[in-house]
Amino acid sequence: MRTLFANGTVVTADGSYRADVLVEGETIVQIGVDLGASVRADEVIDASGKYVMPGAIDVHTHMKLPFGGTFAKDDFDTGTRAAAFGGTTTIVDFAVQSKGETLHQGIDKWFALAEGMANVDYGFHMIMSDVNDATLAEMDQVVAEGIPDFKLFTAYPGVFYSPDDHIFRAMQQTAKNGGLIMMHAENGPAIDAVAAQLVADGKTDPYYHGIARYPVFEGEATSRVIKLAEAAGAPVYIVHLSVIDALRAVREARDRGVQAFAETCPQYLFLSLDDLGDGFNGSKFVCSPPLREKNPNWAELMTGLRRNDLQVVSTDHCPFDFHGQKELGRGDFRKIPNGLPGVEDRVDLLHDGGVVAGKLTRERWVEVVSTTPAKMFGMYPKKGAIAVGADADIVVYDPNRKHVISAKTHHMDVDYSCYEGRSVQGGSDVVMSRGMVVVQDGEWKGKKGYGKFVKRAVADYSRVV
Ligand code: URP
Ligand code: ZN
Ligand code: ZN
Repeated sequence: MRTLFANGTVVTADGSYRADVLVEGETIVQIGVDLGASVRADEVIDASGKYVMPGAIDVHTHMKLPFGGTFAKDDFDTGTRAAAFGGTTTIVDFAVQSKGETLHQGIDKWFALAEGMANVDYGFHMIMSDVNDATLAEMDQVVAEGIPDFKLFTAYPGVFYSPDDHIFRAMQQTAKNGGLIMMHAENGPAIDAVAAQLVADGKTDPYYHGIARYPVFEGEATSRVIKLAEAAGAPVYIVHLSVIDALRAVREARDRGVQAFAETCPQYLFLSLDDLGDGFNGSKFVCSPPLREKNPNWAELMTGLRRNDLQVVSTDHCPFDFHGQKELGRGDFRKIPNGLPGVEDRVDLLHDGGVVAGKLTRERWVEVVSTTPAKMFGMYPKKGAIAVGADADIVVYDPNRKHVISAKTHHMDVDYSCYEGRSVQGGSDVVMSRGMVVVQDGEWKGKKGYGKFVKRAVADYSRVV
């Protein structure tokens, strides 16, 4: 099967140009001007007036994550289908090692969740909850099996939390095996102390979730884990960075030449502490780190993206229904499952609030939603690129189409949207996943189980910069 994307503007991290793109089977085989005149194709997709860009990559999702006595709602079928509708053709989800388990017990569980279910390609990172001699040794094997990154937490004491010595030992191990430590950086014990004081004072509404998690607790933990990584001689990647205090820590380290990297998420660019304030409705916005004050954080994070203090925008997609799940925390915000839906909206929100708003170039937008995630997580140039030999993960993106985000029309399996009623400019008209058109003009054409596990390589962090 040969498909020609004709008459579009190819938009990549490096630049934009008019060209046609020919796909044969699962691969991009030719790029050139007016290819239609010289090549045979079974299908021609007219991309006039549209962008032809690499499929977006969301490197932070949690399908079926166990949290607070319940499970994130989307599974690999509904979650990857929603991702595809939003122009995302690869996700990297977090396999969870629970306390007392081997890493492989966690990985096996995640393969069982994903196999035969995923609609687009997927990889795994490893949440490491139990650092000991055996699991440290097992890390090397996990890296060799195509899962080269490990998320550790300075938050959530008693659940995912690791003390500094465990974090440091895991970093020493990745310094040897070439893997990457991803850090959830918030000072969990300090947060728990403040949260207990607030609840004792009768301050139990979702809003106080945001109050308990001081910005300085994220700034302190971010600076601490970066210093631990420096001491271990390992690169480090800060996940879901939300606030200027943490951004400063990353920027300061990078300015000194430290291999520190960070992502932020749309919720920290476009939602704020105010959203948490609407009585128990605010539970829809409970995630960690929490939503922050709009000023100065939104502008500072966007500047951080522009200046490459932040390299990636992911979603931290972790959806819980308002009814029955978020409601577990009525009367005590500490019991609200943490996480927001977002896998479907990331690309459009960042196009609208970044490119259309004049804050990011379209090339930088492609870079932070696709190309750098591919480079950072060992998938480039197979993914994240419009290039001969790359996987045919291609989006025909209409930069002018407007739509309104709503739970009534989204494809995520969750009963609300954090962006309900928000109008955005830009949308994915055609989405191709490894040679298969999965979305066309709002219609689902994909196949459950088509998505394959991406065995990822150890990344060359010097290519990420
Ligand atoms: O609130 C969040 N972020 N939930 C998902 C788990 C995590 O910390 O990433
Ligand atoms: Zn986290
Ligand atoms: Zn997460």
